[in-house]
Amino acid sequence: MPTIVIASPKGGAGKSTTAVLLGTELAHEGVPVTMLDCDPNRSLTLWAGQSDLPEHIDVLSDVSEANIVRTIKAHDSDGQIVIVDLEGVASRLVSRAISQADLVLTPMRATTLDATIGARALQLIAEEEEALDRRIPHAVVFTMTKAIQSKQHKGIEISLREQAVDVIDPPLLERAAFSGLFAFGGDLHSMPAQGNMIGARDNARAFAMQVYRRLAGEG
Ligand SMILES: Nc1ncnc2c1ncn2[C@@H]1O[C@H](COP(=O)(O)OP(=O)(O)OP(=O)(O)O)[C@@H](O)[C@H]1O
Ligand SMILES: [Mg+2]
Repeated sequence: MPTIVIASPKGGAGKSTTAVLLGTELAHEGVPVTMLDCDPNRSLTLWAGQSDLPEHIDVLSDVSEANIVRTIKAHDSDGQIVIVDLEGVASRLVSRAISQADLVLTPMRATTLDATIGARALQLIAEEEEALDRRIPHAVVFTMTKAIQSKQHKGIEISLREQAVDVIDPPLLERAAFSGLFAFGGDLHSMPAQGNMIGARDNARAFAMQVYRRLAGEG
């Protein structure tokens, strides 16, 4: 089953939040998910330790450069979706993870600075494609966006689309429930209400379904 790698060298771009939202929403639909915490800051592990893990989810901690390829291979063969959360750097660990990906997601805030640094993630994917001589499907997801798109957001999105970059619609809006995941653990269905929960669940689910469609080759 597929491996989804969440990668951007930009710190705080929303990688771990995207990983948890995607993993928990897919698991909520009954898809078994294994999440690999490859970040020495251990965001996923901290999330997993906050409360009982939702059904259908496993989190493996301390996955390193030395064992990432083996770990992915061990888990993507047994009917799971593997989601890899990485540190906000460019490193050999990141390259190795990307080399194993069926889909790379690059979360990006819709600001010029984030887009500039996020573009380096796309460059890194292109370099892996060249080294491996295979296409690595990838997409950008805008994170922490406002309900009403800024001019800057529109401009960055148009520019990405002009470069034939796949941009996932919907973006992940800035929502109290999404940042609450790390405060409470669990998922959007188990946590105490934070802001507009229905809006948050609809947003996360629609995003996860768009990712799932891409895995099924309907992108
Ligand atoms: N859609 C969102 N709505 C509200 N808050 C968000 C959203 N996405 C991320 N955040 C908050 O922004 C901060 C950074 O997010 P996150 O930890 O997911 O980024 P990251 O890319 O994993 O960072 P790092 O590079 O440090 O691993 C966190 O406090 C998180 O709760
Ligand atoms: Mg993180």
